[in-house]
Amino acid sequence: MSIVITGNPGVGKHTVVKEISKYLKLPISDINSIARDAGLFEKNEDTNDVDISKLEKIIKEKISNPSLIVGHLAPYVLSSVKVKIVIVLRRNPYDLITVYKKREYTEEKTRENTGSEILGIIAHDAINQFGTNVFQVDVTGKSISEVTEKVLNIINGRGVNEEVDWLDLVTKQNDLKKFFAY
Ligand SMILES: Nc1ncnc2c1ncn2[C@@H]1O[C@H](COP(=O)(O)OP(=O)(O)O)[C@@H](O)[C@H]1O
Ligand SMILES: [Mg+2]
Repeated sequence: MSIVITGNPGVGKHTVVKEISKYLKLPISDINSIARDAGLFEKNEDTNDVDISKLEKIIKEKISNPSLIVGHLAPYVLSSVKVKIVIVLRRNPYDLITVYKKREYTEEKTRENTGSEILGIIAHDAINQFGTNVFQVDVTGKSISEVTEKVLNIINGRGVNEEVDWLDLVTKQNDLKKFFAY
């Protein structure tokens, strides 16, 4: 059975996967690398602009053994994979803006991804796809080792799901217009 780490671009998936892979005897399967190697990304990786059904088929061939699967597309391409636990990393959208600035995302791409995080789209879609085995972890303000410990606890059956509500936060900060065009 595989372990899945997902969440929006910039939440810290690859950082955390590198850490937890030191403690688990599972190979890492990186959905982005698989898609890139198959030539499915036209421009860059942190996008949803990818042929999902093609990627799903390729993943069916490539991920045949239990592994530590990482990628923001996880809820959409893993129907053929036996999944034990799914961890969705969540991060304050204000912090994500800082990460996206460093990555030189366009304004449109930044809004798309912060909007997705505020609405909890990946968490919602993961719960739809994988049901009760989905755990959210709020990484905001936590060190990499704290996040690693939380994730390992979840994998070992001692974790808790953290409810995250950025919409409430953003509304209280009067920032809906900053994140959504309406
Ligand atoms: N717990 C954390 N606290 C602070 N910064 C972090 C943390 N985890 C990751 N980062 C930083 O955030 C950025 C995005 O992390 P990354 O692992 O590339 O995210 P993802 O793979 O989800 O896109 C990187 O600059 C990384 O160093
Ligand atoms: Mg990454």
